[in-house]
Amino acid sequence: MLFLTSPHLLLRPLSADDAAHFATLLGDDPAALQQMAQMPDPCTEAAARAWIVSRLGPGAHVFAILRRQDEAFVGVVGFGGNPAMPEMGYWIGKPYRANGFATEAIGCVVDYARDLGVPRIHADTFPDNPASARVLAKAGFVTLGMVERIFPARGGRRELFRHVRELTPDS
Ligand SMILES: CC(C)(COP(=O)(O)OP(=O)(O)OC[C@H]1O[C@@H](n2cnc3c(N)ncnc32)[C@H](O)[C@@H]1OP(=O)(O)O)[C@@H](O)C(=O)NCCC(=O)NCCS
Repeated sequence: MLFLTSPHLLLRPLSADDAAHFATLLGDDPAALQQMAQMPDPCTEAAARAWIVSRLGPGAHVFAILRRQDEAFVGVVGFGGNPAMPEMGYWIGKPYRANGFATEAIGCVVDYARDLGVPRIHADTFPDNPASARVLAKAGFVTLGMVERIFPARGGRRELFRHVRELTPDS
């Protein structure tokens, strides 16, 4: 099994059985769910399982984030979609936030994507999610401006900040 490592984290491929962790960490966190345009809300174990299974196909690279010291499941990071500029998504469970874990996990996956030959990667953040924008800036993403996207489960037409990280071999 492919593992990615960083100073405080282990990343392993996400599996359908991780749905229980989604329900535990996101089930009572509607504010976090609303920041993730495509995450089921409410995030029951069954809904999370369906979400995970839908993202395990070819071209998707989605990882469970484990805290290295005790292998606690702390969140998820991954990317998929258009091979020319895949989209990155991520979340960290509330008890584990503000430890630098998102920044570290994103950095790890950026390195992995570069090794795969991905030329650039993007992430979009809602304007009321400055923590996520900050994490992306710390991970070397550049904010290019606003994009409009339609997310029926998040109010329909929405504006988001687009952040892009170029992945040249020396970046
Ligand atoms: C966004 C999220 C992934 C950050 O995870 P995390 O592990 O706490 O992130 P880190 O600890 O690596 O960094 C957080 C940074 O955001 C900053 N931050 C936190 N709240 C902030 C706020 N309200 N305004 C501005 N910056 C904020 C922190 O100070 C820190 O930056 P610093 O190191 O310069 O001080 C986490 O809050 C989360 O999962 N939120 C819900 C889901 C989500 O929003 N996913 C992303 C969708 S685009």
